[in-house]
Amino acid sequence: MIITEREGICPALRKYYSRLARFMIALVEIPENAIILEAGCGDGALTCHLLSLLPDHVVVGYDLFSGVYEESLSALTGAVSQMRVIRGDVRTMSLHTESVDLVISNELLCDLSRNDTQVTLNEFYRILRKGGTFIHGCLSPYPETRAQELVLLADSYSADPLFDHEWFSPPADELAGMVHSAGFRQISVTYFSDSLKFTGDAAFCHLEEWVLKPEFFEKYSSEVRARGIEYPMEQVIHCCK
Ligand SMILES: C[S@@+](CC[C@H](N)C(=O)[O-])C[C@H]1O[C@@H](n2cnc3c(N)ncnc32)[C@H](O)[C@@H]1O
Repeated sequence: MIITEREGICPALRKYYSRLARFMIALVEIPENAIILEAGCGDGALTCHLLSLLPDHVVVGYDLFSGVYEESLSALTGAVSQMRVIRGDVRTMSLHTESVDLVISNELLCDLSRNDTQVTLNEFYRILRKGGTFIHGCLSPYPETRAQELVLLADSYSADPLFDHEWFSPPADELAGMVHSAGFRQISVTYFSDSLKFTGDAAFCHLEEWVLKPEFFEKYSSEVRARGIEYPMEQVIHCCK
């Protein structure tokens, strides 16, 4: 998908998330009447699609909703009024041991440090029932093109990172080792390769939503204008307890 105008951004993102939700759900087996936790659900970009794909299950949203993400709570509850939402930290979860069938998350671990990622994966392992599944999606930290590299560079100019920003996102191999250390087995990594490219005004408009330091625009505006920005492929890891 190539988005050239600002009006095209929201519909394109909706389509992207809708396809991503389908892609992720097709990878996992979900028992009947499952309890599904979406960790780091944010404003519900993925949640809306999960709810329509999983009407017979209980989907619970879990997020800290702090710092730059504070506004996400009202956006989420506005978009999905019926869902149970828990405000909490994924590093120390307020959930019982072995109480959840599936933990699903997207672009959550990129916000955590390496150490906090391991702590969080250990928490996911604790709250999952035996045989339960964890599935996580995050953009690849290995750009294929300069337009993708500009996305990584923009991320490194974030004006208000929530926590220590150690990486753009965890490389799949490293993440596989970490889920293995947490106790997970049957670990697979696959790639969601739908492309999402923004050019012209749409590129600048999308970057403005990310709250970047002005230095990014001073340094890279002409390249953004010439090449646009593009999301790298999404690495999707899934594994079982
Ligand atoms: C990049 S956003 C992704 C939001 C959504 N999953 C999506 O794909 O659009 C990261 C989300 O993780 C949440 N988050 C970050 N650190 C967290 C923590 N320690 N505990 C709970 N949520 C956290 C943020 O509040 C934010 O909503």
